[in-house]
Amino acid sequence: MTDSLTVRDNRTGQEYDVPILDGTIKAADVGKIRTAEGEPGLAVYDPGFVNTASCRSAVTFIDGDKGILEYRGYPIEQLAEKSNFLEVAYLLVHGTLPTQAEHEAWVHEITYHTFVHENVKTFMQGFRYDAHPMGMLMASVGALSTFYPDARNISDADNRHMQIVRMIAKMPTLGAWAYRHAQGKPYVYPDNDLSYTANFLSMLFKMSESKFEADPRLVKALDVLFILHADHEQNCSTNAVRSVGSSQVDPYSAVSAGVGALFGPLHGGANEAVLRMLRRIGSKENIPAFIEGVKNGNEKLMGFGHRVYKNFDPRATIIKKACEDVFEVTGVNPLLAIAQELEKIALEDEYFIKRKLYPNVDFYSGLIYEAFQFPPEMFTVLFAIGRTPGWLAQWVELVQDKEQKIARPKQIYTGDRTLDFVPASERWA
Ligand code: ACO
Repeated sequence: MTDSLTVRDNRTGQEYDVPILDGTIKAADVGKIRTAEGEPGLAVYDPGFVNTASCRSAVTFIDGDKGILEYRGYPIEQLAEKSNFLEVAYLLVHGTLPTQAEHEAWVHEITYHTFVHENVKTFMQGFRYDAHPMGMLMASVGALSTFYPDARNISDADNRHMQIVRMIAKMPTLGAWAYRHAQGKPYVYPDNDLSYTANFLSMLFKMSESKFEADPRLVKALDVLFILHADHEQNCSTNAVRSVGSSQVDPYSAVSAGVGALFGPLHGGANEAVLRMLRRIGSKENIPAFIEGVKNGNEKLMGFGHRVYKNFDPRATIIKKACEDVFEVTGVNPLLAIAQELEKIALEDEYFIKRKLYPNVDFYSGLIYEAFQFPPEMFTVLFAIGRTPGWLAQWVELVQDKEQKIARPKQIYTGDRTLDFVPASERWA
């Protein structure tokens, strides 16, 4: 057996041997196939990169058919049950689990970089009263690049580490302040006596009490949600971070692009869309009519379907369990009954079975977030905080990868050619 592909170009009758490596062929090798010297080489057309590998990565492994998700080789189920978000962040960024000393140093560093420059607060206050918190987060993360111009020195490992620590540390502060802004409440400074996730909840919900300590079950559930969202290989937002990062811009600008990509309803914005959908359905009786609408192509069942998972999304299974833990503290969200019934009906329906559509991570996460009393606009902010270590781990990989180049896809040009320009004075005469 030879690891190559023999391709016969029927336009010219010429045959080519294209090497196969790691289950892929190089697009550059395909580009060598041409009808004549000087003619453009053959290219692959792949809108949405459905079958194109853009990098080598050792961060996250997914087997969509088997429903497997591993960070650096560790199954997501074990990490969600036995680890914590900052340890997982360390694992993603550094590639190995920390020793005790490394863990302590990491937690210390992250904890002591949670504060942001006072000017960040001032410009956040300048947003309109009804600004979407994701817009505020995207802008404020990008703005951090102006506070840390040294971040442009991306070839220096110590410098990269500094920015990574800063970003993981400050994302909850920015996210919480975006929330407080919409509420018209004063921004709360970080409480560095608390854990990463407990401090985030304090910055969100603290009022006049001298210390805010959330129920540990809620802290744990949110920490698990952060772990579940921490990375997911080459998804839309990670691809955005890598694509923008490939220009060698600073990591704040690259991550800000990731936040923008995550904002969209087909990506991180889906959990917000799920909640709105459940509210619109309103009661179980309306589900059959809604499902008919989906099958007729009038709308989508949000929180269902995934580009990669075609069997089940392992994160959805863990979230269902976290749902129960949270509802034990907060009481059951009445939308849960609609979600469960919707899931039951959809999983038995030929339309969804045939297309391998299953609940994804966003189907239940919105219900948990609502139980925390987050407005839907905040859901994607929570996703962004969780995803930050993943974006940064992938960014570091990109920066160190000698095979990477500036991202610059090809196109198939479909427009006019060589038109003669007629000045406006003649065209409008
Ligand atoms: N509801 C109804 N039909 C659907 C859904 C859905 N949620 N998702 C896919 N389909 C249908 C498509 O219409 C298509 O049908 P067709 O073959 O008759 O044309 C078929 O299933 C295949 O779907 P694609 O759109 O080709 O699948 P793709 O991999 O491009 O899209 C995506 C994946 C974007 C996640 C899609 O399933 C979707 O829009 N889901 C709803 C939004 C959502 O929940 N997004 C969160 C994803 S998870 C995350 O980002 C964290």
